[in-house]
Amino acid sequence: MSFYITTPIYYVSDVPHIGHAYTTIVCDTLARYHRLRGHKTGFLSGTDEHGLKIARMAEERGMQPKAYADKIAEAYRSSWKALEISNDDFIRTTDADHEALVQELWKTLEKNGDIYLGHYEGWYCVPCEQFYTEKELVDGNCQVHKKPVEKVREESYYFRLSKYQDALLQHIDANPRFILPESRKNEVRAFIAQGLDDLSVSRTSFTWGVPVPGRDNHVIYVWIDALSNYWTATRRKTQLEGLWDEGVEVVHMIGKEISRFHAVFWPAILMAAGIRLPTTVFCHGWWTVDGEKMSKTAGNVIDPLKLASDISVDALRYFVLREVPLGADGDFNHEAFLQRYNSELANDLGNLVNRTLGMVTKYALTPASASTSPFNLAAAFDAYARALDDFQPSKALEALWALVREGNTYIDQKAPWKPESPRVEILGNVLELCRVLSHLLEPFMPERALAMRDQLGVDEPTAWPAWQPRSFSPRVGTPLFPRVEEDRKKELLERWRPHKKAAAAVEEKADGLISFEEFGKLDLRVAEVVAAEAVPKAKKLLKLTVDLGGERRQVVAGIAGAYEPSALIGRKVIFVANLKPATIRGVESQGMILAAGEAEILGLSALDRDVPAGTKVR
Ligand code: MSP
Repeated sequence: MSFYITTPIYYVSDVPHIGHAYTTIVCDTLARYHRLRGHKTGFLSGTDEHGLKIARMAEERGMQPKAYADKIAEAYRSSWKALEISNDDFIRTTDADHEALVQELWKTLEKNGDIYLGHYEGWYCVPCEQFYTEKELVDGNCQVHKKPVEKVREESYYFRLSKYQDALLQHIDANPRFILPESRKNEVRAFIAQGLDDLSVSRTSFTWGVPVPGRDNHVIYVWIDALSNYWTATRRKTQLEGLWDEGVEVVHMIGKEISRFHAVFWPAILMAAGIRLPTTVFCHGWWTVDGEKMSKTAGNVIDPLKLASDISVDALRYFVLREVPLGADGDFNHEAFLQRYNSELANDLGNLVNRTLGMVTKYALTPASASTSPFNLAAAFDAYARALDDFQPSKALEALWALVREGNTYIDQKAPWKPESPRVEILGNVLELCRVLSHLLEPFMPERALAMRDQLGVDEPTAWPAWQPRSFSPRVGTPLFPRVEEDRKKELLERWRPHKKAAAAVEEKADGLISFEEFGKLDLRVAEVVAAEAVPKAKKLLKLTVDLGGERRQVVAGIAGAYEPSALIGRKVIFVANLKPATIRGVESQGMILAAGEAEILGLSALDRDVPAGTKVR
């Protein structure tokens, strides 16, 4: 059997958070499970780098889009490494071979008559350079600029999505595992059944994308470019080559919010191109944090690397895999994380291994004829495999914990500390159970599983089924999962709390008011402009040097439409002195001057009498 699993490719809009890590950890576990079974396995992750939004983000940072994407893609790559993600390839939509294959796919669709030129009509916001739907507008205004939008007609290529409506429904009905879980399948099915419109698949309003072959003023719609990654990655010279062939189990693991793209648009495109469809699109649920949606503005974004370094990577992996059945929504709560860690990892599993090794050492035993017959191994194996074949890592862990508990109960009942007990046999059997567990745990906690095998003194590669008794040379090592004691727990929860505080601050702001303390955080000063010049290739910007009473700062201001540089020298303005520096169009800006209005109708802040530069403004 061959198995190929993919994560979504992540936007290079920010470094990964716990949500991105979650999907990737789930895929990693399933990929490792299939490797354990001896299946030919491919596992792909990567980044989605084209489109207007990314181009804008780069511009705001004064960077070229590719240079900006390089930076975030690297953050993904290194985070995946840190989280023990075993992806076989990392695709970026800016990879030249991917781009060429996307164009090849486009040509095939065109040749097959499923792409035609038409017009896209919609509400266009000029400053955003973007179309909006009626629903996205507020009182006819763009939400970002709060300005009226224009009705614009733009030339656009279309994909004949409507043609595939019946074929898609048939495919869904004939393949019960095509969209999982069931609830998502029903949603997607209902969406298709209500009728599909053709899909606008090119844009002329920006250039950061893959050009339409032969029509360079059009770029291919970012979702076509992105979805194709799963297929293009199997067509380049990597370990994934050939994994799109018939017969391979191809699984796209995604968050539920992108099910339509994966279970409607993507399969229709593949049908049109005459390429096989994925076997399963599995839509998992979303994590909230302490009951709230995770977002930068709420200040509650969880950094997986921080949690991993405070406890351990494997503890984090275990928690997210165990806490929520795949497919359901979950809530990340730091106390629940520590609670599970202490009870299931430190107490149940850690204790089983530790006390067994402790006794073997204490009594200087050499366990020999070990057997797993006292334990319900066959049933656990079966439940474990069935759960992972059905994309249910939490259930597989439940099956393993049933064994862990059996092991602990067995020790309690057999009491190998009693001199008259057949110690060698009892502890030998538990060692054997631990050895098998270390194999079965490896997909979930690869590093700790190896540490466990190391302490058992069995040096063997992962194998399936791994229950032939071996010899051991056990030694007591440091506990696999040291308990988090009360003091440390308090300290950690306190350390992790800033998220909550920030979230509370946002709540306070719900009435639109800020507190005096919040206002007091601004360091406003009188600043005198001592130099001013244009910023090359930026019509609206001036680079100013201001004096804060001894200290000089350089600042980029969007006031070129209203002021000549020479007219500014000697003026005193109000200046935000504790703003984080930012690079705008390649120039570092170390603060901000206050002004009202924009473009030509703009007035600088001023004082009505002369006050020395550097004076605090309150
Ligand atoms: N670039 C697109 C996907 C293209 S795939 C051809 C995209 N990228 S994303 O960076 O926004 O990542 C979205 C994915 O991140 C979700 O589908 C999910 O896998 C994961 N998650 C992001 N936030 C999440 C939660 N709060 N909870 C769980 N997973 C979440 O969409």
